[in-house]
Amino acid sequence: MSLVADNLTRKELFLRACRGESVPRLPVWMMRQAGRYLPEYRAIRAERPFLEVCKTPDLAVEVSLQPFRRLGVDAVIVFSDILIPAEAMGLKLELGDAGPNLPEPVRTVADVDRLRIFDPEVETAFLNEAIRRIVKEVGPDVPVLGFAGAPFTLACYMIEGKTKEGFATVKSFMYHQPAAFERLLAQIARATIGYLKAQIAAGAAAVQLFDTWCGELTREDYERYALPAVKEIISRIAGEVPVIYYTKASNHLIPAVARSGADVLSVDWRVNLAELRKYIGPKLSLQGNLDPAILFGPAEKIRSATQELANSLGGRGHILNLGHGILQHTPVEHAQLFIETGQQIEFAQTPPVAISAEARL
Ligand code: CP3
Repeated sequence: MSLVADNLTRKELFLRACRGESVPRLPVWMMRQAGRYLPEYRAIRAERPFLEVCKTPDLAVEVSLQPFRRLGVDAVIVFSDILIPAEAMGLKLELGDAGPNLPEPVRTVADVDRLRIFDPEVETAFLNEAIRRIVKEVGPDVPVLGFAGAPFTLACYMIEGKTKEGFATVKSFMYHQPAAFERLLAQIARATIGYLKAQIAAGAAAVQLFDTWCGELTREDYERYALPAVKEIISRIAGEVPVIYYTKASNHLIPAVARSGADVLSVDWRVNLAELRKYIGPKLSLQGNLDPAILFGPAEKIRSATQELANSLGGRGHILNLGHGILQHTPVEHAQLFIETGQQIEFAQTPPVAISAEARL
């Protein structure tokens, strides 16, 4: 297995892929790679509540490193949750077995105005500490990723209070109180900028914004509400580290999503990456997008689907990943097979001459 190809470190592979350069092999990691499909994660969670793991750097570091040690993934994402900043902004947060619950959700303008722009060096210092310790553990050759929820997706949880029920409450808020909704997204964006900058200062080599629910919006509403808040965050981070923007079920939003300013667009399996590449051109890198359910299939299917996906962009501007988080009951050896298969595929380096010829066309 060419773990580090042509003497490039994992971090160099990852950053090259973010910049759209060709790589001898693709960097591979999985969204939600630290989680319940791993027995060693379940062992820690049997003893400690979810939020305690997030807020205790020793535990968060341990859990973040589990998929790196076991699967040899090419990036380590810090263990946390997109709802951590919601709590730091002043909302009560519970994360139990039934998923997230915010018992005092945002429903009025006054609720929006009560939200605090928190100091990430104080309120979420545990996260920065976890990143610093992970960076120390893995050394300079492995990229450590920070992340945050995108404002619309975070707003869904803040307004709905729990995992969505068709987004009726969120959309009702949006249509009845559009100014308050815009204000909420702007507040979340402001808080998120500081939150991500603190993660970068702690050593994050790239950051990912998770916009899991933006696909629920019409393109018009996405452009009016969700996109400006995402653009605001990215414009304030741009130039520091690469920004990866994950959107789900976003086929109808692609022309708008492509204008977010992100370096890397991460999409789910509903989108064909080669077609997306043709549509958006060479400037944006892509991340994804194996259907996580394929990891329940037979080994031969996992191998062929991974090979087909990895080859579809020819080794340029592609971070290999799933199209959404790994599912809870995924067999660990199937996750392993995905990672190994992806790492074994080698690409001939596009000579610089060919690049300039391309550029002249
Ligand atoms: O990728 C990683 O390994 C880092 C950790 C991470 C978690 N959540 C840990 C987690 C990341 C990047 C997230 C992001 C997140 N959290 C998203 C965006 C990505 C996505 O999956 O759509 C969303 C929407 C959330 C909100 C959230 N957190 C939900 C809906 C749930 C409950 C559902 C579930 O999967 O259990 C969580 C809890 C959560 N966050 C778990 C983990 C490992 C499971 C908690 C447990 O251990 O019991």
